[in-house]
Amino acid sequence: MKRIGILTSGGNASASNAAIHAVCKTSYQKGIELMGFYQGYHGVVENKAILLNPLMTAEHTLDNGSFLKSARSHSFKTPEGFQKALSTLKSQEIDALVVIGGNGSLAGASNLAQAGISVIGIPATIDNDIPYTDFSLGVDTACNIVLDAIYRIKEGAESIVMENDFRVFLMEVMGRNCGYLALATSISGDCDFAIVPEIPFDMKKLAQSVVEKSKSGEPYALILLAEAVASADDFGDELERLTCIRPRLVVLGHTQRGGRPSHFDLILATRFGNYAVNFLMEGEKNKYVALQNNKIVAIDLEQISFGKKELDPELVKLHDMLA
Ligand code: F6P
Repeated sequence: MKRIGILTSGGNASASNAAIHAVCKTSYQKGIELMGFYQGYHGVVENKAILLNPLMTAEHTLDNGSFLKSARSHSFKTPEGFQKALSTLKSQEIDALVVIGGNGSLAGASNLAQAGISVIGIPATIDNDIPYTDFSLGVDTACNIVLDAIYRIKEGAESIVMENDFRVFLMEVMGRNCGYLALATSISGDCDFAIVPEIPFDMKKLAQSVVEKSKSGEPYALILLAEAVASADDFGDELERLTCIRPRLVVLGHTQRGGRPSHFDLILATRFGNYAVNFLMEGEKNKYVALQNNKIVAIDLEQISFGKKELDPELVKLHDMLA
């Protein structure tokens, strides 16, 4: 193997730069060149590439986002665009491609694999919805951002105790179709309720619990709402209708994709990047790296289409017990 390509695709996830650096350092040490494609698959379609070296990639390791830029490419999904991408990989003499991204990006990698390209994926998405890996890059950093917001709200809420002024805070958390971010941070941040798509809930019971809490002498209730269930606006309207208490809405939005990568994400990125090159050297072709019980393993890329990541049942139990 003489030359590997690399790209970051989809929504940005923390520590992608650290993963690029690890891939670069590992391949450099093995005498393999690394070609970076700008703007995800779009850069492969349009042949926007740059030869990387560890001095270049080292400059960005602690930065959020991707210095190669990420994109959701429409042209790559067309038959013409896909053919152009294959031609680029051929003309750039790419022996294998490392794709850093979420479900959609790894599905794109799987399509390339079916067309005969050696590909290895690195899971990177704050949603934690990629099957067969305990974590993807960006999840831990995003959880820390949500947790920070929880602390700030609690600090404020606990410092103002006014008579008959019970407050309900409703915080909408990202995650696309997955409730992991909301569930995990509601446990770590000791919130009152997490409303996630994977756990059925009864709006009337929730409203009743909120009303009971308002009579208990406690100053506030904090509810985390996964975006997949409803927007904070709609959910807040319904809750107000049932409780006669207007919730204070907090929508964290894209702040969850920013911030300096956490230690956990940086070390995972370094391990993922290193293993990605090692797996390629061992002849693995159409896989993605994954974390299972603190070991890095290689999973078939086609599992992206067939596998579904379930919420950790232990977290669900913890939530049910503590809520
Ligand atoms: O997949 C990451 C994610 O941040 C989701 O949690 C969210 O639903 C979506 O991307 C937001 O997408 P966009 O960046 O296009 O607004």
